[in-house]
Amino acid sequence: MAGTDPRRFEEIDFEADATDVPEGAAPGSEAHESPLGPPSLIVDDLHIRYRIVGAGKRQAVTDGPAPGRVRRLLNRGGQHVGATEVHAVRGVSFVAHTGESIGIVGRNGAGKSTLLRAIAGLIPPSQGAVYVGGTSSLLGVNAALMSSLTGERNIMLGGLALGLTPQQVRERFDDIVEFAGIGEFVYMPMKAYSSGMAARLRFAISTAAIPDVLMIDEALATGDAEFRARSSEKIREVKDHAGTVFLVSHSNKAITQMCDRALWIEQGEIIMDGPSDEVVAAYAKSLKR
Ligand SMILES: Nc1ncnc2c1ncn2[C@@H]1O[C@H](COP(=O)(O)OP(=O)(O)O)[C@@H](O)[C@H]1O
Ligand SMILES: [Mg+2]
Repeated sequence: MAGTDPRRFEEIDFEADATDVPEGAAPGSEAHESPLGPPSLIVDDLHIRYRIVGAGKRQAVTDGPAPGRVRRLLNRGGQHVGATEVHAVRGVSFVAHTGESIGIVGRNGAGKSTLLRAIAGLIPPSQGAVYVGGTSSLLGVNAALMSSLTGERNIMLGGLALGLTPQQVRERFDDIVEFAGIGEFVYMPMKAYSSGMAARLRFAISTAAIPDVLMIDEALATGDAEFRARSSEKIREVKDHAGTVFLVSHSNKAITQMCDRALWIEQGEIIMDGPSDEVVAAYAKSLKR
């Protein structure tokens, strides 16, 4: 085996020549050492276009019994029908590293959820690519639960879908039930759950395995204060395992507290990428205007 032959190492030149070192990067200087781990995710010129089903060429409503005003309104709508696709993500590129947590801010419709769904592999890129080193999980979405089955059965099915063995699911069962806070309801069909209970169970199942890239979309992580605290616990757990976390939240406080870095997205494009406090401050300022 080549790897066990010590002589092979002698061939490697460990000494850096002056010409190897970029200017200004003296050993020990900031430019020389990176506090980040290796890349966990590369998004390269990503474009996502939604095709709007049922939208065709502009169709003016000219016949039928519609009176003049209604017809004019319908015709106005007809102008929008001409758009057959929504270009939700437009040329997004960035690299995320292990151990990094990244917040995503931007107005409604900016493309935040679309970007996460694309990273999770739930929508194919229209152009560009997403490279993930390991498993990625969009909280709450990856666990597609069945309302006719009990929570218990859903925990097993969801766990298996996440790649756990039946034994691993059984070991984590009590934790999942406790995390979801559903008590004895776990033995009832999920259609008997309140929407909050169902959301909490979905969330608990999807965090049963620790993914390399964890994504949380605000809409899926709503809940009471205690539940929020448990969510940030999960985020910390993923970070401790050198995973990467993405958090979409309307709470600027949550972003600055939980994320080191933030992306500000507007109309499908990254308009700022930097330390979360700076990005959140700039975004908040733009909202006031
Ligand atoms: N399934 C879909 N089909 C068509 N258009 C969509 C779909 N989902 C989102 N969009 C559109 O894509 C754009 C980005 O939406 P979204 O990613 O949900 O933004 P955000 O999460 O930032 O609010 C919006 O214009 C939205 O209307
Ligand atoms: Mg969204």
